Amino acid sequence: MKTWVAIAVALAVAALALSIYTFSATRPEPEPDAGAQKPSPPRVGCTACHVKVSDQKNYTLGAEALAIENHPTQTPEGEPINEQSTFSDCMTCHATAASGRAVAAKTPMVLTAHPAHMFSEIFTEELGGTCWSCHLIDSRGNWLVVPDKVDVEETGIPKELPVPNLWVPRAGTAGGGA
Ligand code: HEC
Ligand code: HEC
Ligand code: HEC
Repeated sequence: MKTWVAIAVALAVAALALSIYTFSATRPEPEPDAGAQKPSPPRVGCTACHVKVSDQKNYTLGAEALAIENHPTQTPEGEPINEQSTFSDCMTCHATAASGRAVAAKTPMVLTAHPAHMFSEIFTEELGGTCWSCHLIDSRGNWLVVPDKVDVEETGIPKELPVPNLWVPRAGTAGGGA
């Protein structure tokens, strides 16, 4: 009997250690009750997930950038990259240039954002992330990017239209009216 208790305790400790390990990096974390249940309504827009929860859990886009070794600390316009940085700020360097590289970095956001999220178990399993966590398609077939957190119905459909600050790929601007 004692061995079973010991094994159970060891397993519980291992599970706790694993969960602390999993969420210790700069990773948007699920709600306390998530994991078993995906968030409902779903999270839509970068800042539905990329927010500052605490000093230790800073998931803002600025913090994601500054977590990269030797990442620039200013936009080309000289604005500091920090917790207030928006998706448009990131795109001043990570939008795609005609060459296929980013306008002021090597890697365009369009190449990195997709695998980084769609291969992530935290994004897909625990946060219930899909293409529609970041996109709306307009009537011309543009995959508009949703930068700001949007209030949505249980179905994921935005409660209020038009959704503000939509980003039009390639046009490289905020706009749209989906
Ligand atoms: C539903 C939640 C969610 C939404 C919405 C979301 N992200 Fe993320 N993002 C994550 C998670 C979770 C990770 C960490 C993935 C991992 O490491 O497993 C992440 C990681 C990142 C990273 C770091 C990737 C790297 O290469 O280090 C960047 C940059 C990022 N997201 C940008 C964005 C942008 C830009 C948007 C909006 C267009 C966005 N995210 C929308 C959850 C989200
Ligand atoms: C001044 C230009 C500039 C701005 C603004 C900028 N970056 Fe970067 N970023 C770079 C450079 C340069 C690198 C180094 C690797 C490269 O060239 O792609 C990089 C690398 C990265 C990387 C690791 C490589 C990759 O693409 O996966 C991530 C993630 C990243 N940036 C996210 C962001 C986010 C999020 C923002 C907005 C908060 C941002 N960056 C704003 C220039 C910039
Ligand atoms: C984490 C947020 C995120 C998720 C999830 C995501 N995308 Fe994207 N998507 C982006 C960003 C950022 C861009 C780049 C916009 C730009 O460069 O102007 C983009 C651009 C695109 C484009 C437009 C490319 C162009 O140049 O016209 C298509 C198509 C696309 N995504 C399809 C998808 C599909 C399909 C899925 C799901 C399998 C998906 N995306 C999931 C963030 C996301």
